[in-house]
Amino acid sequence: TAPLTILGLESSCDDTAAAVVRVSEGQPRILSSVVFGQTDLHAAFGGVVPEIAARAHAEKLDTCVKQALTKAELTLDGIDAVAVTSGPGLIGGVLSGVMCAKGISVATGLPLIGVNHLAGHALTPRLTDGIAYPYLMLLVSGGHCQFLIVKGCQDFTRLGGTIDDAPGEAFDKTARLLGLPQPGGPSVEREAIDGDKSRFRFPRPLLDRPGCDMSFSGLKTAVLRARDSLVAEKGGLSRQDRADLCAGFQSAVADVLAEKTRRALDLYMAEAPQIPNLAVAGGVAANCEIRTKLKTLSHDSGVGFVAPPLSLCTDNAAMIAYAGAELFAAGHRDELDMIARPRWPL
Ligand code: KG4
Ligand code: ZN
Repeated sequence: TAPLTILGLESSCDDTAAAVVRVSEGQPRILSSVVFGQTDLHAAFGGVVPEIAARAHAEKLDTCVKQALTKAELTLDGIDAVAVTSGPGLIGGVLSGVMCAKGISVATGLPLIGVNHLAGHALTPRLTDGIAYPYLMLLVSGGHCQFLIVKGCQDFTRLGGTIDDAPGEAFDKTARLLGLPQPGGPSVEREAIDGDKSRFRFPRPLLDRPGCDMSFSGLKTAVLRARDSLVAEKGGLSRQDRADLCAGFQSAVADVLAEKTRRALDLYMAEAPQIPNLAVAGGVAANCEIRTKLKTLSHDSGVGFVAPPLSLCTDNAAMIAYAGAELFAAGHRDELDMIARPRWPL
């Protein structure tokens, strides 16, 4: 079969991204992957401001596409199709990307492919490690938290997920409570190194309930209470207090994720996969304690463990181009009436 070269666009949250991926003889290769972050634009507001994000995407997308093509040493003539995140996400941003992709499609006649952002994350281990279907995926970031059995590029079984905050959100809020810099995950992890994780016994929510659903919002409330009682007792937090709070919090998140992953692995293994694999994606998968627990767990169950490099775990367009390539190969095409979807469960 002829090689397939896909241009991918991503703009569903606070990263404007474009990438070119080529699949040749079944082997994908990233020819370019450009990401313009917007962290600075939103820093003063304590979170992503949808209107600011949408405007910045609209302003940056064409530059981003041009850079991706230049780095791939291609023009649009060398592209076979345009893939774009068409949901779920902040609607203004998704619309910016969809309109850009439609513009390219109208101008060039290239086929258009709408990609589910979550499918992009979920298919990344195939882009990076070429693993076979079906595999178990744990997607853990600032906005997502779910277990999926990935059986095909349009075939996902959701086993469970958070019923409130995503773990990354809990790390970020905990950091804020303790006066640590954002993003909270890395700062909490750094603080926790010198901490005693057994000093504070934080709750492990939903472990008493069957299934793979999780809850992380109570955990941050527990940290808040522990902080306030320390402050009431001694007028402030010592460095050690902060480290112990971080260590206790992190180990609670890791325990919940590990126990729920154990259950998800049971459900997955019941499907008798030939080459079983657990793949993780999302910013939280960068956490050493969490990563080590999941790795041990999968090895103990005779399951491979795949963690794509962080630059491909967080939002990027290479994953969208790759998912687009699989969809294209499966015969999927979208028309110019394709809509941008704020919600779009897999
Ligand atoms: O995947 P990502 O870059 O963006 C989305 O949320 O889509 O994930 C960012 C999240 C943030 O909440 C950040 O605090 C968290 O991942 N994170 C971490 C670590 N590094 C990033 N959480 C725990 N430990 C880390 N080392
Ligand atoms: Zn994402």
